Amino acid sequence: MHLTPRPILLTRHGESIDNVRGRIGGDTVLSEAGELYAKKLAKFMDKRLKNERAASIWTSTLQRTILTAGPIVGLPKIQWRALDEIYVGVCDGMTYEEVKKNMPEEYESREKDKLRYRYPRGESYLDVIQRLEPVIIELERQRAPVVVISHQAVLRALYAYFADRPLKEIPNIEVPLHTIIEIQMGVTGVQEKRYKLM
Ligand code: G3H
Repeated sequence: MHLTPRPILLTRHGESIDNVRGRIGGDTVLSEAGELYAKKLAKFMDKRLKNERAASIWTSTLQRTILTAGPIVGLPKIQWRALDEIYVGVCDGMTYEEVKKNMPEEYESREKDKLRYRYPRGESYLDVIQRLEPVIIELERQRAPVVVISHQAVLRALYAYFADRPLKEIPNIEVPLHTIIEIQMGVTGVQEKRYKLM
């Protein structure tokens, strides 16, 4: 790891239609509030990055992150499948209530051990952490700022890595919507700032 000071800016996508409906998984577009966040985010980045080296924008391959990056212009955008949300397998498109009602044993197992629980035909948090390894290596190598627009479970894992939080805390770390977490890496260590745009 080199010590060129540069920020990593983490944010979830703007609120999606599935967020409004309380459904997990899926690949829906942004709600009105989500679209507003995308615009505010572009304005924020314009100001925040104007005195920095050329930044890049990393998104997942899901619509809601790509649309959130949409209003940001003039910066290279890279899509990573490794930044896609935790894959919820057979629970894709369900609400937590529906999972609890229709698959109570699954719901219970996840409550008991959210870190290790793997959705049937889907992923666990540990799987997500593992697939993020190449992203982390690439983030460590960067000398310019990177804006990562991704999803709750993925950002919990990335944040925990940079903020040095224990593995067991990862599934419950707070990563609210419409908030930017800025991590500044430099010689003096890691510093954090949060900007709530809405
Ligand atoms: O399923 C998608 C969510 O962003 C992950 O949240 O692990 O707290 O259920 P959860």
